[in-house]
Amino acid sequence: MKRLTSILLSVSQQPRSPMATEPLGPAHDRGVFSCGRQELDRYLRERARQDQERKTSVCWILPARTDRREIAGYYTLAAYSVSPGALPPEVAGKLPRYPLIPAAILGRLAVSEKYKGQGLGEYLLLDAMQRSLDQSKSLGLFALFVDAKDEQAAGFYGHYDFIPLPSQPLRLFLPIKTIADLFA
Ligand SMILES: CC(C)(COP(=O)(O)OP(=O)(O)OC[C@H]1O[C@@H](n2cnc3c(N)ncnc32)[C@H](O)[C@@H]1OP(=O)(O)O)[C@@H](O)C(=O)NCCC(=O)NCCS
Repeated sequence: MKRLTSILLSVSQQPRSPMATEPLGPAHDRGVFSCGRQELDRYLRERARQDQERKTSVCWILPARTDRREIAGYYTLAAYSVSPGALPPEVAGKLPRYPLIPAAILGRLAVSEKYKGQGLGEYLLLDAMQRSLDQSKSLGLFALFVDAKDEQAAGFYGHYDFIPLPSQPLRLFLPIKTIADLFA
């Protein structure tokens, strides 16, 4: 496991730079993005704009430094809700007994093959955490959930202390309280 503790140090020691991600727009070159997972490339090419226009999720783009039309990575963020019964008992026990608990979900996250291994995946994940934390100040959000496409992707999130749901190990979450401590 990483490691939220080590990030905690680096985040708190650095001045916070404005987030460099921007919502997907018509100028972004979606056609050439390739992350090694076809369904994530196809989603960006064929569905991300529609989902955004229909207000079902926002697709956040990290543009390449040299050419802002080029997409170095992206993630999607949406509202979500979870039944307390799906959470680990020790977490559910501390929540009110509502049928559904509000949350945010990072449905997809991908970095272009060209830029992998340079810390952009971590940057995007922290960006999504920061945005969820900001939103949680306006409306209740208990946690940031993520949908991992496979065990390898779940490994990436596990590296950042995300907790798998007992009955759905590819769906993981991090409480907003933990995120708030990270960015305090
Ligand atoms: C997973 C992905 C987003 C990682 O992006 P990246 O930019 O290469 O990752 P980073 O360089 O930011 O790596 C950050 C840390 O995560 C670790 N890491 C990366 N992939 C990992 C994995 N699958 N399992 C465990 N740790 C992983 C790195 O070793 C690094 O750790 P360190 O800082 O302690 O050395 C990228 O490989 C990708 O786009 N994969 C295809 C799509 C995908 O699987 N998306 C995720 C779920 S939908």
